[in-house]
Amino acid sequence: MIKNTKIMVYFVAFTAALAGLLFGLDVGVISGALPFIGKYFNAHDQACQWVVSSLLFGAVLGTLGSGYLSRKFGRKNTILVSAVIFAIGAVLSSLATSITILITVRIFLGLAVGIASFTAPLYLSEMAPKRIRGRLISMYQLMITVGILLAFMSDTWLSYGGHWRVMLGILVIPAMILFLGVMMLPKSPRWLILVGRKEEARTVLEKLRESNEEINGEINDIEEGLNLEQGGKAILSNRYFRKALILGVALQMGQQFTGINVAMYYAPEIFKDAGFATTAEQMWGTVMVGLVNVFATFVAIAWVDKFGRKPILLIGYAMMAGSLATLGLMFHLEIKDSNVLQFCAMGSLLLFIFSFAMSAGPIIWVLCSEIFPLKGREVGITFSTSTNWICNTIVGATFLTMIHKLGDAQTFFIFSTMNVIFLFVILRFAPETKGVSLEKIEENLMSGKPINQIGK
Ligand code: BGC
Repeated sequence: MIKNTKIMVYFVAFTAALAGLLFGLDVGVISGALPFIGKYFNAHDQACQWVVSSLLFGAVLGTLGSGYLSRKFGRKNTILVSAVIFAIGAVLSSLATSITILITVRIFLGLAVGIASFTAPLYLSEMAPKRIRGRLISMYQLMITVGILLAFMSDTWLSYGGHWRVMLGILVIPAMILFLGVMMLPKSPRWLILVGRKEEARTVLEKLRESNEEINGEINDIEEGLNLEQGGKAILSNRYFRKALILGVALQMGQQFTGINVAMYYAPEIFKDAGFATTAEQMWGTVMVGLVNVFATFVAIAWVDKFGRKPILLIGYAMMAGSLATLGLMFHLEIKDSNVLQFCAMGSLLLFIFSFAMSAGPIIWVLCSEIFPLKGREVGITFSTSTNWICNTIVGATFLTMIHKLGDAQTFFIFSTMNVIFLFVILRFAPETKGVSLEKIEENLMSGKPINQIGK
């Protein structure tokens, strides 16, 4: 009866995932712009670090406010708010007349990054047919990686003239595209039912689902889910919900403590320490990091709904642990004295990026958007996503100190060990949610099944 639902679903997924693109652009742009900003304002190291971490700090704040916004105004309108902040923030940061103004504007921009990282996966999980839910949420991650890559490339290109204002200001264009695209999207059916607008929810589902049975089934499931438990803050006193909460927080810690953003923020620095002396070599290495990050995400998109979340995560963490241990070893063996070791180090770093991007990168976001019951989904995702940003800030703010105090080898050994630890956490506690409806997951959780069994 309904035609073109597939096209509609992919259009929705692609457009909402543009929020990820902005996230990636804003995170990625600063590594290339920073040296010029530092020089222009004659800023010391501390101030430069603040330019980087102010965005992350803003993202924590943005995430904390997103639960309220997305419940009160809906997921779609909340993404629109983030697009407006992205656009205004891009223009203002390109016009900054002092380092303090730039830092303040980046806190503001961070609000958008936080809101987008909260709302886009939530919206996607609520729009997606369950068969391809993992794939659609992974598209969001793909956009993050494309954003980071584009930022690395545009930085490299603009770096010849030192045009840092253009680097920052140009991001107004994708922000406007996000705004216009999201304007055309339907509202989330789950949210519509949550606020009592069932008929509108049905109209939306008619565009996204293949059959009437599927639509009726989904509406029933959502309504049942709503009746199951108390909402809002009261949900925190539910012990089953708290289990999911702890899992979500642990998963996001496990994503950030893989050490991924060490590579995203400091790749040129790592290549320099590995003996790649020229800026050109370091920039090329960095662009390669960005490229591998994008391409490996396709592996996750292809596999996540086929082989499941858990096996891919386990393989990914094992590979990350191995590649970081090898990288540490290369540094331990006095890398600068040997070309062979240098290239082994580069290979290990790229293998690490590959392993992250095919596993923890997308799949942690997928799981965190699946494990919470509807009434507590905002609270749950608020906690898990803010954990992501807090740990991101911690890693970003301590990496250089770790390298200087402990040395590269020890630092990478530590990250390798973290990956081993999280491998066991996932083995023991992560559920497999492939192909199971969000409502079924919710029912299992709330009926007291062990957390690693809620996808069965
Ligand atoms: C992480 C980000 C990271 C990005 C790299 C995301 O899943 O949350 O912190 O920068 O992947 O692609």
